[in-house]
Amino acid sequence: MTKFSSRLPGFYDLSVAERVEKLTESTSWDSPSVDAFSLSGGLSIEQADHMIENVVGIFGLPLGVATNFIVNEKEVLIPMVVEEPSVVAGASFMAKLARDGGGFVAETTAPEMIGQIQVLDIENLEEASKEVLANKDRILAEADAVDPVLTGLGGGARDIEVRIIKSSPTGGMLILHLIFDTRDAMGANSVNTAVERISPLIEEITGGRAHLRILTNLADRRLAKAGCRIPCESLAYGEYSGEHVRDGIVEAYAFAAVDPYRAATHNKGIMNGIDAVVIATGNDWRAVEAGAHAYAARDGAYTSLSVWSVGKNGELIGELELPLAVGIIGGATRVHPAAKAALQMLDVTSASELAEIIVSVGLAQNLAALRALASEGIQRGHMSLHARQVAIAAGAEGEKIQVVADQMVEEGIISAERAQDILGSS
Ligand code: MEV
Repeated sequence: MTKFSSRLPGFYDLSVAERVEKLTESTSWDSPSVDAFSLSGGLSIEQADHMIENVVGIFGLPLGVATNFIVNEKEVLIPMVVEEPSVVAGASFMAKLARDGGGFVAETTAPEMIGQIQVLDIENLEEASKEVLANKDRILAEADAVDPVLTGLGGGARDIEVRIIKSSPTGGMLILHLIFDTRDAMGANSVNTAVERISPLIEEITGGRAHLRILTNLADRRLAKAGCRIPCESLAYGEYSGEHVRDGIVEAYAFAAVDPYRAATHNKGIMNGIDAVVIATGNDWRAVEAGAHAYAARDGAYTSLSVWSVGKNGELIGELELPLAVGIIGGATRVHPAAKAALQMLDVTSASELAEIIVSVGLAQNLAALRALASEGIQRGHMSLHARQVAIAAGAEGEKIQVVADQMVEEGIISAERAQDILGSS
């Protein structure tokens, strides 16, 4: 078998059946995975009924595959579940540009989650805080007893931190943070069980009342970071020079860096890519969203999650860092057949590797939006993608697809009838 490459030229113009055939030909993707994606969105009604309450049906969303990605020197195809056009194409195209600079380089910190305990009714907060820290080993041992399988795999309780909050609407409180390594799981269940388990001990040590016991989604000890370097000349297109596009992207970033109104939209563009892979792999996208936006405001003002700058050789440098609490075991990741198939396509062996891919997709998606916004604007690209889909649906094939699409965009009339007329007269 030839060396696997995520470059699949012409993938975009194939029919769904041809794309599936291409994937099974060029990857280790097998027929159960194909079935998982094609049958009712991969989920039977019985499986759905076991996942949540009061099930009456299944809600479908398109699953696309982004091509061209290289993450940490590994070629990877990206399953993305999203309802918005241009997202998959944008990620694929930017990954192609990033290939010119070697692809994405990504890393993660340890998969450490934080569980919080809110301790109330304490007379002397400083004293109680010292007592908690003096009993750290005892507390960690109690937390570790929760999940011997996890501790056997090298995970488990790592540390205790205490924060004193002197005043709140109901008075002072002690906040205990249990740092808990959840290895390849997102880990919400383990962390929540652990904080519930240690609460009586915390009450005994502090003399206070343990109120809320729950993980925080601001998982700022579980960070994922990606970077890319794009040669300036690779950014040139149409009437725009590489320098023009590069500098426009840096100026667009500067806007998001200083203005929360723009930063919210800028970060939404990043999450277009991140959520799509988080959903495809059966992970909790609300948790990831909450963590990302809280992290974007960590210094008191909401700002851009990514940074774009110019390198010393004139290349465009992009960096993105955010908390990414995702797993490859637990939750829906192994229950939902399509999520299992998505993980198989990604060919990841750890939650950290998955997070490294996801943060790279976020950076690619951000670049796609900024590149379009800093040059022709977002609508033209949207229109031309839409026009291509309409042309394909009307029966255009090969080079005709672009010809028909271009003419419809030019005329400002994008419809199946017009596509058929153009096809008929050419
Ligand atoms: C649309 O889904 C996302 C964008 O608005 C992101 C951005 O403005 O950077 C295009």
